[in-house]
Order: sequence, then C-alpha cells, then structure tokens
Amino acid sequence: MAVLIVVVLGMVFGLCIFSTAILKWNEVRYSKKGLPPGTMGWPVVGETTEFLKQGPAFMKNQRSRYGNFFKSHILGCPTIVSMDPDLNRYILVNEAKGLVPGYPQSMLDILGKSNIAAVHGLAHKYMRGALLTLISPTMIRHQLLPKIDEFMRSHLSNWGNSVIDIQEKTKEMAFLSSWKQIAGIESGTISQEFMPEFFNLVLGTLSLPINLPNTNYHRGFQARKNIISLLRKLIEERRASGKTSYDMLGFLMNSEENKYKLTDDEMIDLIITILYSGYETVSTTSMMAVKYLHDHPKVLEEVRKEHVAIRARKEPDEPIDYDDYKSMRFTRAVIYETSRLATIVNGVLRKTTKDMQLNGFIVPEGWRIYVYTREINYDPCLYPDPLTFNPWRWLDKGLENKNFFLVFGGGTRQCPGKELGIAEISTFLHYFVTRYRWEEVGGDKLMKFPRVEAPNGLHLKISTH
Ligand code: HEM
Repeated sequence: MAVLIVVVLGMVFGLCIFSTAILKWNEVRYSKKGLPPGTMGWPVVGETTEFLKQGPAFMKNQRSRYGNFFKSHILGCPTIVSMDPDLNRYILVNEAKGLVPGYPQSMLDILGKSNIAAVHGLAHKYMRGALLTLISPTMIRHQLLPKIDEFMRSHLSNWGNSVIDIQEKTKEMAFLSSWKQIAGIESGTISQEFMPEFFNLVLGTLSLPINLPNTNYHRGFQARKNIISLLRKLIEERRASGKTSYDMLGFLMNSEENKYKLTDDEMIDLIITILYSGYETVSTTSMMAVKYLHDHPKVLEEVRKEHVAIRARKEPDEPIDYDDYKSMRFTRAVIYETSRLATIVNGVLRKTTKDMQLNGFIVPEGWRIYVYTREINYDPCLYPDPLTFNPWRWLDKGLENKNFFLVFGGGTRQCPGKELGIAEISTFLHYFVTRYRWEEVGGDKLMKFPRVEAPNGLHLKISTH
C-alpha cells in the first residue's frame, strides 16, 4: 500500500514538474524584449480554454495583474489584449499604419476574398464605398424602409395565441429582412433554398477550421459554393431579362447609375458581407430587447406609448416611414441600452502587418490585437449604476456620440450598417409591441459569453392585443 502511495505521489509530483517546465518553456519562447506583460499558457492552445471557460473574468483577472495592455495566446494566435480607451481609439483609426482587421483566415475563406474584412487600403475604400451607396440615409428612406416594413408586417403576423421561440424568429427575421432588401421580388421564391445554406455558412465561420467531411467548417464551405451558384443564377437571369430591379442587387448591377463598378464575384462577396454582418448583431439585439422589455414593465410601457402614438397618426395598414422611424427616440435608447448591457459585441480584432511600438511596448508582426470593449459597457464612471437596464440614460447627454461608445466599432471600420440595423430593430419592435403581449414560458437558459445566445431557444407565450 505504502509503495503504491509513493508511486502515485511520485507520478503527481513528476507531472507537476513536467507541466511547469512546459509552461516555462512556452513563456521563454515568447519572451522577446519589449513585449507587454502577460502569460502565454500552453504550447499551441495557449490560454484559450481558460478564456472560454472563465470568459470576462479571465480578462478582468489578467487586467488586474498586468494592466490594460497585456499579452496572451488565445484562439490560436499570440494576442495582445487592449482595454485602454485611448489606445483602443488609436488602434481603430490607424489601419494605414499597419493595424488591419485580424479575423481568422478560416472565417475569411468562407466569406470570400472581396469580403470587406478581408480587404485593406484602396480595395477596402472601394468596397466600403459601394456598400455605403446601397445603405445611405436616402436609400433607407426610399428603398429599404418600405421593404423592411412590408417584411416585418408579414413576418410578425399570426404569432398570437401561440408559443414561439423568439431566438429562432429573430434569426429568420434578420436574414429574411436583409435578403428582401437585396433581392426584392425574387427573394421570396429563393429564400427557402437560401436560408438553410446561409445558416450553414454562418456556423462554418464560427467553427474549428477542420476541413473534413461532416464538420461544420466543411459544411460552411459547401454552403458558400451553393450560395455563389444561387446568386450567380439570379444575376444571369436578371441580366437576360434586361429589366431594372429596385433593390440592392439591382443597384449594384446598374452600371449607368452606380459609379462603383463591381465584378460579379465582388458583388456576390458584398451581398454575403451584408447578410453576414447584419445577421447575428441584429437578431441578438432584437431578442435581448424583447427579453429586457419583458423584465422591465415600465420601459415596455414607455416604448409602447411611443409606438401607439405613431399608429394613432396612421391608417391601420399604413406603413411606417422614415420620419416615423426618426421620431422613435425612446426605442433607439432601448436599442443602445440593450447592446450595452447585453454586450452583443465583445470587441474587435486587428493584426499587425509589421513590428510596431504601442504604448511603449513592441508588438511583433502578425500578432493579433483584441480591442476588448466589453468592460467599457460596465464602467460606473461612464454609465452610473451600470448593471441596471435604464434606457433613459441615452436621452439627455448625447451619449451615443461619445468617444468611448464602441458598440458599433470605431475609426475606419466603424459599422456602416448602424442606421440600417437600428431601423430594422425599431420596425420589428414597432409591430411586436403594438400587436402583442408576451410572457416568458420560463426556464430557458441565456448565455452571455462568448456569444449572447439561448442554447435551447427563448420561448414566449404570445397573446394578441
Ligand atoms: C445592431 C446591429 C449592429 C451592430 C451592433 C454592429 C456592430 C459592428 C461592429 C462593432 C463593427 C466593427 C468591426 C470591426 O471593427 O472589425 C461592424 C462593422 C461592420 N458592420 Fe455592423 N453592426 C450592426 C449591424 C450591421 C448591419 C445591419 C450591417 C449591414 C450592412 C452591418 C455591416 C457591417 C460591415 C460591412 C462592417 C465592416 C465595415 C468595414 O470593415 O469597413 N452591420 N459592425
């Protein structure tokens, strides 16, 4: 027995020494002079497991030990985490100095080589310009909002007296609403085929990049191929018909009116960009707004008042227009407060194209920089009583124009779809709160990290007004 104990203790002791040696070796490997403080964890996996398991607590711990700018090794890459507000701003506005988007190559491969996050410099300027003309305020007013309104009206019909999964409904909504803006009248006929492919594409971008049959990553690639062939067919049919369509694809193809001339491949990648970028952001914000409104009856009452007043000015079936949308001040505040408190976006990724000096430290070429903005949302100096859902805080002080407000990113890559996204969520809320009352069925789990999601759905019992 004693021998066994000695052997086991010996093995445990040996394992401890071995692990410590490996950790130490990995630290030494990355101990270049001038690097920021921090730890690199295990070879290959780094500190990914701790990061995913502990979530925000991991970041807070490391910050308390090493300050606002520290090194780590997460999600497959040596990474600098920056939680310093001034430095974050500097990083976001200085892409030209070699601080380009740092999203994983595996994700960009599925999204396409002309995807906005994959292009830099002039190519980025051009693709972004092409996108901005499609979603400008004038376009929202005359082309997009009417389509969004028509879509929401029909998507939100017949929910009364049933149990729905609001997560599923808002996901379908985010996809179908964008798709209608892109492909107008043809969107309905193709959507049943397109939607499952799109969902596979999204899953592929969020999965481990193992390209073997039956992996989500492989399915994501396959979905990209199918989506390309669907879009190519649509473009060819439109070209053959010679008719002009008044939707995003129609505008992209209209070489007389549109000064941005894109190849078919670029058009397809831009369409995938629009669908992808506005999907999880819009759907999750909408779901969480419904959740917070349910939990805060006073806020719901105020939102409802705003929307009932808009309805009162209109015929029962009259669509909401741009001026109605702009008058939804409280709804906008609810959307900001939802994005802040739920932290729909934890931060953005950049990478260095050369060795560079930042904050007195050296950041080597090819390292990722995680501009981690989550904690800003809970800073009591910026948002008093930060854990309370209080949309009124957005009404007085012009908070949305403050430098520290990074829910929509900042600098050269600031979200071009901000206004469009808010218009979609506002229109959704308009029809939801004026048509329905709802109770949570209860018991559904909500995860806040690494993504905000309800793993088994968020079920609501809906009744008609
Ligand atoms: C509530 C809704 C939304 C939120 C919270 C949001 C958030 C963000 C954030 C944080 C970024 C910066 C990414 C970075 O710096 O790397 C971004 C970029 C972007 N967003 Fe949004 N977004 C929303 C809706 C939309 C919509 C509806 C579209 C549709 C067109 C869109 C299109 C884009 C694009 C194309 C970029 C990349 C811009 C570039 O790299 O130049 N977003 N968004």
